[in-house]
Amino acid sequence: MDLKGKIILAPIAGITDSPFRQICMEHGADVSYSELVSADGLMRGSKKTVKLMEFSEKERPYGIQIFGGTIEAMSAAAESASELHPDFIDINLGCSVPKIIKQGYGSALLKSLSHLKDIVTAVVSSTRLPVSAKIRIGFNSVRGVDIAKVLEKCGVSFIAVHGRLAVQQFTGEADWSEIKRIKESVSIPVIGNGDIKTPQQAKKLWEESKVDAIMIGRAAFGHPWIFSQIKSFIMTGSFEEVSLEERMDLLREHYQAACGRGNIKEKLREMRKHFHWYMKGVPYSKQYKERINRTEDLEEVMEIISKIKTRS
Ligand SMILES: Cc1cc2nc3c(=O)[nH]c(=O)nc-3n(C[C@H](O)[C@H](O)[C@H](O)COP(=O)(O)O)c2cc1C
Repeated sequence: MDLKGKIILAPIAGITDSPFRQICMEHGADVSYSELVSADGLMRGSKKTVKLMEFSEKERPYGIQIFGGTIEAMSAAAESASELHPDFIDINLGCSVPKIIKQGYGSALLKSLSHLKDIVTAVVSSTRLPVSAKIRIGFNSVRGVDIAKVLEKCGVSFIAVHGRLAVQQFTGEADWSEIKRIKESVSIPVIGNGDIKTPQQAKKLWEESKVDAIMIGRAAFGHPWIFSQIKSFIMTGSFEEVSLEERMDLLREHYQAACGRGNIKEKLREMRKHFHWYMKGVPYSKQYKERINRTEDLEEVMEIISKIKTRS
């Protein structure tokens, strides 16, 4: 897979589901990942976990991200994920949620490079697909270069680096100088990630760090246009702002895609956070947000969106 110059949607548990991934791909994202998929959950045969891996052709190139801590579970997860024919299998080495770290999963695997090597080698030999890894720059001290070199030796095809330590969770700032050092020290492609909020920032960090590709997470919440805006800014030095009308049209599409399958009431509840994000910066939106938080009726949602749209 050629990653040079690509803008990639980050995996975000609870948010980057199939409808959202499709929307981002339609708006300029070049690669997408599943939300994190539990290797233990797959071993237990959890239907909810299996469902997390599903995707549509529009989301390709698409990677299934697995997390776990034993060779047995991670190898089995790589095998079962491969049966769905994604484009790559990604190993989560960045999750810093206490519940996951306590089990020795996610970023906790960065604590011991020999254990990391065993797990990653096992995953690489369990699938014919390319295997990638998404890492932090260390667990509690910076050792991104050592980690990246181990991964490269294990046969990982590319890495995405979130420029924070695991213990930082989401505090402080992403350290792009360490991302740059990692890029300079390995021959596999490196994707830079962390704190890119605007097209201007994307261009600056990309040029300074010389990474192969960049990954966008939170800046896409309620604003999937970020991908095409970054591309436009890099190519032409400018980008178009999005009108309220366009925002509401896409929000409507997003609701329709999300509510098209599964339990509608559940989907409407899940979509509330997206509604709030699409409304960011819209004046006098409190009343609409309150209604969205109460309603369990898709028609009412559509009515609210039309009302907001006619204000534009
Ligand atoms: C709510 C939330 C959930 C996340 N879930 C995942 C995940 O499932 N897998 C993963 O590798 N990273 C996950 N991340 C980390 C993001 O992929 C990304 O590395 C991080 O948000 C930094 O990028 P950003 O500043 O562009 O958002 C999550 C982040 C947030 C805020």
